[in-house]
Order: sequence, then structure tokens, then C-alpha cells
Amino acid sequence: MKLIFLGPPGAGKGTQAKRIEQVHNLVQLSTGDMLRAAIASGSEVGKQAKKVMDGGNLVSDEIVVGIVSERLKDKDLANGFILDGFPRTVGQAKALDKILADSGDALDAVIQINVDDEFLVERITGRYTCANCGKGYHDTFERPKEEGVCDRCGSTAFTRRADDNPETVRERLNAYHAETAPLLPYYAEKGILKTIDGMVEIEQVTGQIDEVLNGIK
Ligand code: AP5
Ligand code: MG
Repeated sequence: MKLIFLGPPGAGKGTQAKRIEQVHNLVQLSTGDMLRAAIASGSEVGKQAKKVMDGGNLVSDEIVVGIVSERLKDKDLANGFILDGFPRTVGQAKALDKILADSGDALDAVIQINVDDEFLVERITGRYTCANCGKGYHDTFERPKEEGVCDRCGSTAFTRRADDNPETVRERLNAYHAETAPLLPYYAEKGILKTIDGMVEIEQVTGQIDEVLNGIK
């Protein structure tokens, strides 16, 4: 299956992609994670991306499409993938259509995780991640079973993203409404847009996505 998870910052794209990829044997492809890896590597692309991401704006289509098109050639994607955070502009969506069409492929579904703006700042500013295994947590909504200890790997080191502050979140939301929301009619016209309610508990959101995926198998 070839899927896109679409939604504003903090909607739960990453949280859900990590849960769904295990059950459905898919690979999560997060452009945010790829760009953060480029920043950590100290590459030229990473340096350019850092300035843009710290301001809450979108990295250029050219850079992001370049990264994704290379990644889509990898053999580990044979059973399918979940694009998390890509495409984010109509230009990126058109580039993706072309990449897939050139190899005789097409998207199975675009899953919109719908969350009202007022929930998002709290979700993002409360988010943190295990520095060792990458498991995500939230100060209120997803705490480790033992305070300060990762459930999955036992590490006691955690990190927070540089762009997870209220000012940058507001810029990221503006970018979402201006640049990414136009993808909703784009995919609705193609008949592959599925909208689910992202304002319920994490488990229930996964249940709705499972229902959509079971319907298209
Ligand atoms: P990216 O890393 O993609 O960030 P984003 O889209 O802003 O989305 P987030 O990762 O913040 O949110 P999410 O939906 O994954 O939420 P999560 O599951 O973590 O992009 C970062 C930057 O990179 C962009 O600003 C841009 O500069 C650049 N970039 C990336 N892709 C690009 C592209 N294609 N083109 C151009 N630039 C690009 O959940 C958030 C928190 O809420 C977590 O703590 C979680 O535990 C909690 N939570 C999740 N679901 C629920 C629930 N149902 N109830 C309660 N809490 C919940
Ligand atoms: Mg994410």
C-alpha cells in the first residue's frame, strides 16, 4: 500500500505512522525526520534547511522532492510506505504523481487526520522523544509508565525539537493553511481522500485508520 498521512503540525501523523507501519508492514517516510537527519549530518542541504525550519517555514520543493525521489528508489519499500509530512505543496504533489506514474505506481489513499488548530499548540509544546530509540511521548497525553524512563528501551535521556515552541508552531500552522490545505481538494478530486477524526484518543485514531486500510486491501 502507498499512503499519505496529511494533517497540520501536531495532528498525529508521526504517532500514527509508527503504529500503522508495524501492523501493516509498511515503512514510514517522514520528510521532517529526513531533514533533521540532514541537519545532524552537517551537510549543505541540512544547513539550508535548518534556517527555514527554525522559522517554521517550508523547505523548497526542489530540496524536498530531491530527497524523497532518492528514498523512493530503495528496495525496503517493496511492500509499501506511509509518506508523513510529504507532499506539503501542490507542486510536491504533482512531482510525486509523476515519480509514481513513471514506475507504474499510484497512491492507494491519502488519510487526512483532522484536528482543530486550538488543540495543536498544546500537543506540540508537550511533545518529547526518547534520545536513544526515538519513541514519542507527551507531557499530558502519552507519559512513560515510569517517570523519566523510556518504556521501550529504558533510556533516561529525552529530547525536544528546536521548532516545538509556541511562536514557531504558529508559523508552521500558517504554512499549513496557506500551502498544504490546498492538497485536500486536489486529492478529493482524485477520489482517494479519506478524512478521519484526529481529536479522539491515540488508540481510537489508529482504529479509524485501520478501518480505512482494511477497506482498500
Ligand atoms: P515535520 O517534522 O513533518 O513536522 P510537522 O508537519 O509540523 O508535524 P509534526 O511532526 O509536528 O506533527 P505530527 O503530525 O507528526 O504529530 P505527532 O504524531 O508528533 O516537519 C518539520 C519541518 O520540516 C516543517 O516545518 C518544514 O520546515 C520542514 N518540512 C518537512 N517536510 C516538508 C516538506 N514536505 N516540504 C517542505 N518542508 C518540509 O503528535 C504530536 C504530539 O501530540 C505528540 O506528543 C503525541 O504524543 C501527541 N498526540 C498525537 N496524537 C494524539 C491524540 N490523538 N491525542 C492526544 N495527543 C496526541
Ligand atoms: Mg511528525
